[in-house]
Amino acid sequence: MSSQKQMISNFKKVCICRSVTGGTIMKAIREGSLSFEALRRAIRVGTGNCKAKRCRPKIEAQLQVYKQSLDTAEKEASSSKANV
Ligand code: FES
Repeated sequence: MSSQKQMISNFKKVCICRSVTGGTIMKAIREGSLSFEALRRAIRVGTGNCKAKRCRPKIEAQLQVYKQSLDTAEKEASSSKANV
């Protein structure tokens, strides 16, 4: 993701009911909240009036992308170890 797109998504509200931005969600994910329920407990996303109907799909997609990036990083690290 380009840095400009990254910056926009950091400031964009993902959970509109609780006014939680994409940046806040990414920070919580990086700090170890790796499921929607963990994020709900940590930063209260999905606890607004819509009961996560609007934000849950977007947050789960964000989690999926993050987990895939972790898998890719692990594979690259293990393949570089194999080449040594
Ligand atoms: S948008 Fe997140 S709880 Fe409504």
